[in-house]
Amino acid sequence: MTKKKLLVTGGAGFIGSNFIWQTLETRSDYDIWNLDKLTYAGNLENLSGIEEKYPGRYHFVKGDIADENFIHQLFEKEAFDEIINFAAESHVDRSIHSATPFIITNVLGTQILLDAARKFSVRKFLQVGTDEVYGSLGDTGYFTEETPLQPNSPYSSSKTAADLLVRAAFHTHGMPVLTTRCSNNYGPYQFPEKLIPLMISNALGDKALPVYGDGMNIRDWLHVKDHCDAILTVLEKGQFGEVYNIGGNNEWANIHIVKKILELLGKSESLITYVKDRPGHDRRYAIDASKIKRELGWEPSYTFETGIQETIDWYVEHHDWWLRIKSGEYLNYYKQHYEMEL
Ligand code: NAD
Ligand code: DAU
Repeated sequence: MTKKKLLVTGGAGFIGSNFIWQTLETRSDYDIWNLDKLTYAGNLENLSGIEEKYPGRYHFVKGDIADENFIHQLFEKEAFDEIINFAAESHVDRSIHSATPFIITNVLGTQILLDAARKFSVRKFLQVGTDEVYGSLGDTGYFTEETPLQPNSPYSSSKTAADLLVRAAFHTHGMPVLTTRCSNNYGPYQFPEKLIPLMISNALGDKALPVYGDGMNIRDWLHVKDHCDAILTVLEKGQFGEVYNIGGNNEWANIHIVKKILELLGKSESLITYVKDRPGHDRRYAIDASKIKRELGWEPSYTFETGIQETIDWYVEHHDWWLRIKSGEYLNYYKQHYEMEL
């Protein structure tokens, strides 16, 4: 069997780390290089024990996708067959406070990776995108791959720019690119600044649950393992130059999710605290995923009932994982496990 060298960027984050575990477990033809800058969102604890479980198949490289010299040196050293670009600044609220890091990583970083992929003849480049590029829906309708791109936040605008650079690489240079656009993910290892892990961890600590605005903004939730499975499906079967929407047909108003979490944890709704709305808050996202189902045969495997219960159980069992994040202790993991060995 020929082994492929897969470069995963942003693999110490939420979706990237789930993807690495899942791919090493289910695909014996891939060895993975995880390139991550280890921003506040990168946590190598998410991958703790992976080198021992998959000897020789996982390699960590600390670095920045927006550092052109570093990226070219890395590509000269390792002949990557395929790339999946997960690396991004991913939190909408942070982009409202400060947009520049989003432009540097999400836009410039993507172009630097595309340039390196072209120069070193990488055989596939998959860009992990988001449904937020389509903007906001009213009460009806769904985002298809043909929906006009109308991003509303600095985060979604930077992700849209990245998608367009990937599109340009296909049309201008004939590069072998694929783009996915997924709805909101939930599951293990999600940084507790995002709605579901924030609400679970605050509820467990009997802290206030901050709900933005009237709580009636709608998101379409998909379990992270179904997202990772869809990415692998697109990587293996997708057609170059195409965009694939990914979603679970699972819309929830934020307040209903928050109440569901409280009910499953046996906590009181009195913890709910309505706070000032997010500026420019998109009202509703809903994905039409019929293209990936029809053309590539992907289907989600989780029901929301199973997925949310498993996720809550995971955060209860991994209390120490999110407490180390909230205390900042997780930032020492790289030093303790990697720099000590140098
Ligand atoms: P995350 O914030 O949890 O992880 C991002 C990772 O990228 C971190 O490990 C961080 O250290 C790394 N990173 C950031 N800047 C970097 C740089 N310049 N160079 C190298 N590494 C860098 O994000 P996530 O939720 O796992 O999202 C992963 C990708 O999926 C993003 O591209 C995001 O836009 C997209 N996405 C996320 C969701 C979701 O619901 N979370 C849904 C659809 C698409
Ligand atoms: O749709 C895909 C996107 O989903 C990804 O591209 C982003 O990377 C990811 O962060 C996510 O964006 P959202 O803005 O939808 O996720 P977030 O968890 O920040 O918020 C979900 C909803 O909950 C949103 O309507 C805002 C609301 N919210 C969020 C937080 C953090 C609250 O009401 N209170 C909160 O404290």
